[in-house]
Amino acid sequence: MITNSIEDAAVKLKNNELIAIPTETVYGLAANAYSELAVQKIFDLKKRPAYNPLIVHIKSSNQLNDVAKDIPEKALKLAKHFWPGPLTLVLKKKNHIPDLVTAGKDTVAIRVPNHPITLQLLDKLDFPLAAPSANPFGSISPTCAQHVLNYFSDKLEIILDGGPCEKGIESTIIGFENNEPVLYRLGSTSTDEIEKLIGKVAFYKNKQNEIKAPGMLSRHYAPKTETFLTNDVKALTKSFPDKKIGLLLFQDNSFDTKNVFKEILSSNGNMAEAAKNLYAALHRLDEAGFDLIIAEKFPNEGLGKSINDRLERATKK
Ligand code: TXA
Ligand code: MG
Repeated sequence: MITNSIEDAAVKLKNNELIAIPTETVYGLAANAYSELAVQKIFDLKKRPAYNPLIVHIKSSNQLNDVAKDIPEKALKLAKHFWPGPLTLVLKKKNHIPDLVTAGKDTVAIRVPNHPITLQLLDKLDFPLAAPSANPFGSISPTCAQHVLNYFSDKLEIILDGGPCEKGIESTIIGFENNEPVLYRLGSTSTDEIEKLIGKVAFYKNKQNEIKAPGMLSRHYAPKTETFLTNDVKALTKSFPDKKIGLLLFQDNSFDTKNVFKEILSSNGNMAEAAKNLYAALHRLDEAGFDLIIAEKFPNEGLGKSINDRLERATKK
């Protein structure tokens, strides 16, 4: 059920139940991070493999020492600058964080979400919230309460409504190797902003199938409809003359679009607006019953890199 009651949400969480919460990036499926019983329900409902660890949401950077230890200087700097906000830090974990949350790793992913409702909710709790995106494993993330309801309907008694998500794609994830920052997942905080604060950040390279952040799994965030990504939407569209096609475009594109439906992410070419609209547009295209979806590649700069990352994973076969 979609509701505005923070009070009811808090009661459910204290009873080790799952609820959906709004954040500035995407909606999360939340449980008491200190309760194995509650956290197991996240894995069951999402059909998420146990090797894929969860992000722990805390109410402020003052709580950082409750969950993490041996925190590198640059991590503190990032936390101070970007929290609350769409940046997740992977740090050495404190012992009381259940192995289930971290998939047995000695590190834990942490962030302070920037959404007034979820911050008020966290304030009523004496535990942090483990929360992955509120979608079945591998599918498109939800950016409004209705998306969550469409996925889980009667299986979630409380979907806390916080309106459409402001940022629209998941948090950027930074880990540390020998105290130096490593980018695990592109996201809503652009790497330019991060590098402005702490200098060069290395790109994580997958060693021998090791999974650091399965947000990095090659196929993820995927529609059910066959989806293509291209620099030349016009040419690819023309190569399917008999198909019903849904186009996902950055800006308007004035070529003749007979038999073709267009979703335009930002009519004036604003990247942040495009990111905010991305998943909702993909959800609509996926529900509309097209033979195929063709998405336009974004300029590879700033948030465009994060959007391209999601589109590449959405279109991987
Ligand atoms: O914006 C977001 O980050 C949203 C909202 C709800 O906060 N959450 C989200 O969670 O995107 P999820 O579970 O869909 O993605 C979490 C990512 C996964 O790719 C996971 O592998 C990675 O974080 N992760 C979690 N713990 C980790 C760890 N200890 N080391 C490396 N990666 C980790
Ligand atoms: Mg996810």
